[in-house]
Amino acid sequence: MSNTCVVGLQWGDEAKGKIVDLLCDVHDVVVRYQGGANAGHTVMVGENTYKLSLVPTGAVRPDVDCVIGNGVVIHPPMLLAEMDRLQTQGLNFQGRMHISDRAHVIFPYHLEEERWSEESTTEGERLGTTRRGIGPCYKDKVGRVHGIRIGELFRPDHLRQRLRRIVEFKNQIFSATLNPFTPLDADAIADDYLGYAERLRPFVTDTTAWLASAVKANRNILFEGAQGSLLDIDYGTFPFVTSSNSSAAGLGTGSGVHARQVQNWVGIVKAYTTRVGGGPFPTELDNEIGQRIRDRGREYGTVTGRPRRCGWFDAVAVRHSAWVSGATELSVMLLDVLSGFDEIKVAVAYERPDGSRLEWFPGCLEELGQVKPIYETFPGWAEDVTGVKDWSDFPENFKKYVQVLADQVGVPVRRVSVGPERTQTVAVPV
Ligand code: GDP
Ligand code: IMO
Ligand code: MG
Repeated sequence: MSNTCVVGLQWGDEAKGKIVDLLCDVHDVVVRYQGGANAGHTVMVGENTYKLSLVPTGAVRPDVDCVIGNGVVIHPPMLLAEMDRLQTQGLNFQGRMHISDRAHVIFPYHLEEERWSEESTTEGERLGTTRRGIGPCYKDKVGRVHGIRIGELFRPDHLRQRLRRIVEFKNQIFSATLNPFTPLDADAIADDYLGYAERLRPFVTDTTAWLASAVKANRNILFEGAQGSLLDIDYGTFPFVTSSNSSAAGLGTGSGVHARQVQNWVGIVKAYTTRVGGGPFPTELDNEIGQRIRDRGREYGTVTGRPRRCGWFDAVAVRHSAWVSGATELSVMLLDVLSGFDEIKVAVAYERPDGSRLEWFPGCLEELGQVKPIYETFPGWAEDVTGVKDWSDFPENFKKYVQVLADQVGVPVRRVSVGPERTQTVAVPV
């Protein structure tokens, strides 16, 4: 048995999807344990490009079981539309998609709440969410009174009664805050969701029990973190985070499998840093270097199409996230994007406004907003590395840069990626 967690160590979009797909060579099951359709992964296999959001990346492999765990929040029409789209690309879900009956459901009022919350906040306060209803749904889950779980979609009378009470409450709040306001119709929502439930029925199960059997049967299980550890509700740059534990800390609560069953903790990092949405970003390059990284890395969001903010690698931030996610190895992605830079910088510490040095990522957002990165500068490489197949064939400066990242983070690099294709991945000798 060899179970693995793949988790982003920056602010998301580290190319986790590519590594999850690759590791499906040696895993039988892929589990999503948190987040929802805010995630967007692009996986390229030969002629085919797959875009995944709520569906686990394992779906790309016909013989891999996919689990959407209890910690995920599900908008049924989005999930069904994604499954339909992937089916037209030749993927099949019959018998291998397993959706937790404990996962919480996203309803139209969650989307409305989020739209209103984002539009009513000022530029500096706006979270810049993906507007997929993630935050409002998790709020109702934690608040308990208004949370509805997937299992409840199969009890029509119960669902209708609950929706009538909840929608009445939501309409009261909306009518006091929104102008113009069209009241939501609980019965119409119930009708729609009962329809979605029929389509989801073959897939819904107690995934905690299903996974317990899979662990006991010694199947190899891969846990696929969405977002990144710096977007974690507890350990990220709160409040500019997502609403789940998107570090590896979410694995146990979001799947029902205890962390002690997992042996490999693979932290995924880009060779530089990106971020979409609001919030502090000490190494951001709001200049032509940042634009060059954005152009070369095609740094535009998979879900929203927004340009990603770009900057140098921040070793202070990744030391923190590698620690909270327990990374035992790193995969360094998109190294090809840095080809052609004369010099490459890495933030090795921060400087506070009073001149003192900070080695650890601060929890206080105000402090993080005021620090300046202390950079070390390394020589770049001119060569195109996208066709390199063996570690020994990389330019010396490329290899040195990868070693710098490992030393700075304190975790060995086991894999580098030099292009989006499955084949553009090279193992780093131990
Ligand atoms: P995820 O959300 O972490 O799975 O990452 P995304 O899929 O949102 O973003 C990563 C993007 O980089 C995708 O478009 C990938 O196809 C692409 N990609 C993955 N690895 C590499 C690489 O090594 N080099 C380049 N140039 N692109 C890559
Ligand atoms: P993957 O899995 C990058 C960001 C949003 C916003 C914040 C909160 O593709 O790496 P939310 O909709 O979750 O309430 O938005 O989190 N965000 C992501 N950024 N990659 C993601 O997922 C993200 N999912 C959410 O941009 O700043
Ligand atoms: Mg993404």
